[in-house]
Amino acid sequence: MTAISSKWAALKEELERRKQADFDWEHGKVALYNYKVDAGLDMAVREAYQIYFGENALGRRAFPSVARLEDEVIDFGLDLFNCPEGGAGIFTSGGTESIIVAVKAARQWGRVNKPHIADPVIVLAETAHPSFNKAAYLLDMKVVRVPMRDDYRADVDAMGRAVGPDTVMIVGSAPSYSHGVFDDIEGIAGVAERHGLWCHVDACLGGFLAPFVKKLGYDIPAFDFRVPGVRSLSADLHKYGYAPKGASLSLYRTQADKDCAKFMFNEWPRGVYTTYTLSGTRPGGAVAGAWAALRYLGPDGYLAAAGTVMETRDALVAGVEAIPGLHVYRPFDLGVFIFGSDDDRVDINAVMACMRERGWFVGSTAKPVAIHYSVNPIHAQSIDAYLSDLASAVDEVRRTERKAAFDDDTYS
Ligand SMILES: Cc1ncc(COP(=O)(O)O)c(C=O)c1O
Repeated sequence: MTAISSKWAALKEELERRKQADFDWEHGKVALYNYKVDAGLDMAVREAYQIYFGENALGRRAFPSVARLEDEVIDFGLDLFNCPEGGAGIFTSGGTESIIVAVKAARQWGRVNKPHIADPVIVLAETAHPSFNKAAYLLDMKVVRVPMRDDYRADVDAMGRAVGPDTVMIVGSAPSYSHGVFDDIEGIAGVAERHGLWCHVDACLGGFLAPFVKKLGYDIPAFDFRVPGVRSLSADLHKYGYAPKGASLSLYRTQADKDCAKFMFNEWPRGVYTTYTLSGTRPGGAVAGAWAALRYLGPDGYLAAAGTVMETRDALVAGVEAIPGLHVYRPFDLGVFIFGSDDDRVDINAVMACMRERGWFVGSTAKPVAIHYSVNPIHAQSIDAYLSDLASAVDEVRRTERKAAFDDDTYS
C-alpha cells in the first residue's frame, strides 16, 4: 500500500509540475475552453464523476442508475428548450457529436422521405460551427455555406435562395461561436417549413445560458422548440451547463426523429447492438457529473451564474472601449464579444501577441480580424488584471509600432 501511494505521490507531483506549463485558466487567463462557477460546484461535479468513474453508460440494463440519471438530464434539457410532450434526446460526448448525430438523423429522414436525393445537402450560414462540415465529411453529404450579413447573422433570404432540389437540412446558430450573435431561427425554420427540410438549431454554446439571460430581462429571440419547424437542437452541458467535459445533448421534437439517429446491428454472433451515439462505451462519470451540476445549481444557480456572465461581459466591454484605439464590434447577444483596433498604429495581431506574452490566452476571429472573448463566471475575478494588461499591451504596440501576422491557430 505504501509502495503504491508513494508511486502515485510521485506521479501526481509530475502531473502537477507538467500543468505549470499551461495557461492559468483557473485564474481567468484563458478566454475560451473552460467553464466554472465556483469551488463548491467544482467539488460536487468532481465527486459525482468519481462515484461513477468505472460505470459504462452504454450498459443501461447493467447500470440502471446511470440510465436514470441520463434520462433525468435529457428531461431537464427537453423542458428547458420547451420541447412539446413526446420529445426525446441523446446524451453525447460534446457539441460536435451532438451535431454529427443530428446530421445523421436528418440524412436518414431524407433517405426515407426524399428518396430521389442521391447527394444530400445542408444549407447554413458561413458562421456555423465547423462540426457540420465534419459531419458532412463523415456522412458523405455536401454543405453550402451562405455569406453572413453585415451584422454577422445568417442571411435568411440568401439561405432560402441556396436551397435546391437536393437540400435536406438547414441550420441556424443560437448563438454562433464566431461572433456570439443569434441567427433568425424563426426565419430559418420558416424556410424549412416552406421547402420541407429538417431544421436544426445549434445551441451548443449558448443553450444553457440563453434561457436564464432571458429571465434576467435581456432580449433573447425565440430559438428553441417553441419555434414551429425546429426538429432538433444541440446544447452543451459541458459549456454553460457547467458539467464535466464530455457532456452534451442532442434533442429531438419527436421520438421518431430521434430514432432516425439510431444504429442497430445484428449480424454478428453476439446479438443486437443498438446505439444512438458515435461512441459505444460512454463514461458514466460524465452523466453523473452533468446530473450533479444541474441539481446542485438548479434554476436559481443558473440564473445567478448567468448574471455573473453578463455583468462580467459588460464590465469587460466597457473597459475595452475605454482603452484608446480599441473598438468593440456590435452586435453581440450573449457571452461572446469581439474587439479590434481603429487606430493604424495599433496592430490588433500584435496586441494578441503581447497579451500571450503577459500570460493571457486570447481567442481570435478572422472576419473581422479581432480578439475573441468567450466570457464565463471564472473571468469575473480577472477583469481588472485583464484590462490593465490590455491597456499596457496596446500602449506597447503603439510605442514600438510592433506588427504581427494573424494567428488564428487557437485550436491546435
Ligand atoms: C456554436 C457551437 N457549436 C458547436 C460547438 C462544438 O462543441 P464541442 O467543442 O463541444 O464539440 C461549439 C464549440 O465551441 C460551438 O460554439
